[in-house]
Amino acid sequence: MCDRIRNAGMHDRMMSAEQAAALIKPGMTVAMSGFTGAGYPKAVPQALAARMEAAAAAGSPFRIKVLTGASTAPELDGALAKANGMELRLPYQSDPALRERINSGEIDYIDMHLSHVAQHTWSGYFGKIDLAVVEVAGILEDGRLVPSSSVGNNKTWLEQADQVILEVNAFQPAGLEGMHDIYYGTALPPERKPIPLTAPDERIGEAYLHVDPAKVVAVVTTDAPDRNSPFTAPDEASRSIAVHLLDFFGHEIKRGRLGRNLLPLQSGVGNIANAVLAALSEGGYEGLTAYTEVIQDGMLDLIRTGVLKMASATSFSLSAAGVQEFKDNIDFYRTRILLRTQEISNHPELIRRLGVLAMNGMIEADIYGNVNSTHIAGSKVMNGIGGSGDFARNGSISIFMSPSTAKNGGLSSIVPMVSHVDHTEHDTMIIVTEQGLADLRGLAPKQRAQLIIDRCAHPLYRPMLQDYYDRARRESYGQHSPHLLAEALSWHDRFVETGTMHTFPTINQPSRSPDSGLPELPGSLLGT
Ligand code: COA
Repeated sequence: MCDRIRNAGMHDRMMSAEQAAALIKPGMTVAMSGFTGAGYPKAVPQALAARMEAAAAAGSPFRIKVLTGASTAPELDGALAKANGMELRLPYQSDPALRERINSGEIDYIDMHLSHVAQHTWSGYFGKIDLAVVEVAGILEDGRLVPSSSVGNNKTWLEQADQVILEVNAFQPAGLEGMHDIYYGTALPPERKPIPLTAPDERIGEAYLHVDPAKVVAVVTTDAPDRNSPFTAPDEASRSIAVHLLDFFGHEIKRGRLGRNLLPLQSGVGNIANAVLAALSEGGYEGLTAYTEVIQDGMLDLIRTGVLKMASATSFSLSAAGVQEFKDNIDFYRTRILLRTQEISNHPELIRRLGVLAMNGMIEADIYGNVNSTHIAGSKVMNGIGGSGDFARNGSISIFMSPSTAKNGGLSSIVPMVSHVDHTEHDTMIIVTEQGLADLRGLAPKQRAQLIIDRCAHPLYRPMLQDYYDRARRESYGQHSPHLLAEALSWHDRFVETGTMHTFPTINQPSRSPDSGLPELPGSLLGT
């Protein structure tokens, strides 16, 4: 471990995770590292959760407020949620135990654009940051820090927190050193200056994070992997979505609106995104770039084969096999990957300048192109908006993708009106499902509605959508975006009441199965 902790002064502050966790006091606002299951502290949050459980058992429960880069993992979000130890969480999560506590109303959750977190912290909107717990890959002789497998908001946490606990994780490859680009030039208005980045592969900062050594109250050593969730092989729906997207790119190249190298790619996380990346490798492309948030297995493959010449991101999100591939060939990847702070990876100025192709998943879209990425039936949160808004609003082409149905066909991803809006009709350019792709650019609302119904809706729901839209055109109060307000959210209401959005009797579909609580749907109609 001594070769990872080269600053002599830091040796005096080494202690156990339990001792470090004891420095976290009830009610504190604690900022932790971590982005998409990478680079989060592994030991201190678990020791803290154990202390919270013991305190609760002794009749004195306590909670803290937790800020991170984005989602973390069971050792952090899972452990603290199970201990009921969080009163507030932001800016993104994807942990099942935490999601349950948020949706039961026990934890307040601020779901916000990831690019906004640093500036809101500097502006004091979250109050004082009492303590930061940050995973690093090493500490240099002069006290600078070698960042870990994610950067996220760590620069801001280290600057803004009163006290700092460092977790030095020996599992993170030493070869990460030199792969980061930490920009120290951001400021609040009116002091802001243009950020001097004009291509994804440009370096504008330093390879290390700075911390005032006087603030470091504990150094804890760990040797543990990141979350490293496996990816499932692309299913039929994901592959069809990828094929539609590749056709679209081909079409744009033929029309001269995209070059052979496309534009820098941004790809959301998840299996559909991974399938799209896999398809790109078969599309005959080479020398592409990525300006994105997260590097997942599909992107490593593209780098290895030369389809991508480089990728800029703020974090990895790899499977165990992906980590092994990365570690085995780290010298190759070090010259082709740059990890930046999330205020830079997601910066609207840079995304707009570079003209990023933004590809993100959605829960549902409505017939006019409004997109819901976060909520189930308006009230329950799934994960959060993450960086999708940063990229969708500012990218040169903003694409949303989803299978046309969910829950074995019981839900339609195309609905009359979304039950929650994350991306308005003004930000959505392309909607793609396994059924097809709707290019909404240059279209007025009624043109968009017919195209989305025709191209993207599942055949099981298309007649219901057409019927709704036809009646809205006849009976609506206005004809710019015709709606039947009393009926517009009735699909979600029906789902909450019955478990499906479908009205089977009206189109003679089979009745619901008494066993599953979900409809028995004709297999050939199921896209997912
Ligand atoms: N209605 C209700 N539930 C739906 C749904 C719909 N129309 N569409 C999907 N779901 C449910 C799925 O059933 C699944 O639930 P389960 O985990 O209980 O099985 C869950 O949502 C995830 O869906 P899945 O099909 O596995 O897609 P995914 O992993 O691609 O995730 C999002 C889709 C929208 C949840 C995900 O992309 C997301 O969180 N996006 C917002 C953040 C983002 O875009 N980040 C990237 C920015 S860089």
